[in-house]
Amino acid sequence: MQMRSWIVGLTVLAVALAAPWAVQAQTTDRSGVEGKVVDQGGGVLPGVSVTIASPALLGGDRTSVTDAEGAFRFTALPAGVYQVTLELTGFDVKKREVRLDTGFVATIVTAMKCNPENALAVICGPPIMIKTCIGSLAKLDWKDEQIYTTLENKMKCGIGKCGRCNIGGVYVCVDGPVFTYAQVKKMLPDQ
Ligand code: FES
Repeated sequence: MQMRSWIVGLTVLAVALAAPWAVQAQTTDRSGVEGKVVDQGGGVLPGVSVTIASPALLGGDRTSVTDAEGAFRFTALPAGVYQVTLELTGFDVKKREVRLDTGFVATIVTAMKCNPENALAVICGPPIMIKTCIGSLAKLDWKDEQIYTTLENKMKCGIGKCGRCNIGGVYVCVDGPVFTYAQVKKMLPDQ
């Protein structure tokens, strides 16, 4: 009997993990929709525009933005069927339908898929971090021309006098220091 309980428990867990959207309902004083948005790597996504729409909403659609933890929340919602739309530049739009009963909070946990179309990536930081980020973006089909980074670590005087930042005829302090990764690869083929 105990073994059977384990099997049922594991099956439920497997279904929850396999679902692209995990929706749970909890009884509370007031109905609402809340959740958390992450990227494909599991990193939290702040700044995601979250819109809920429903014929049950008397005041029309409501919009919120995910906070620093990728979380959002709508409270005091009437019961009904809600369309939830998530939007962030550089990511595919994601939509979900949620049925909300009176006194329930629907919790949505989802990952948004990166979409480099009409987007740019600007990377600034230690060289090892820049290299790691560029590698990750390449795996997500970002093109070298869409990725911008800086070579300011090659600079010294910063005014075109010392010559330290000269790379094959390019002066980083004069011509940059921000370049596309396509340009950096031409200047520094071993990057
Ligand atoms: S930093 Fe000195 S010439 Fe560019």
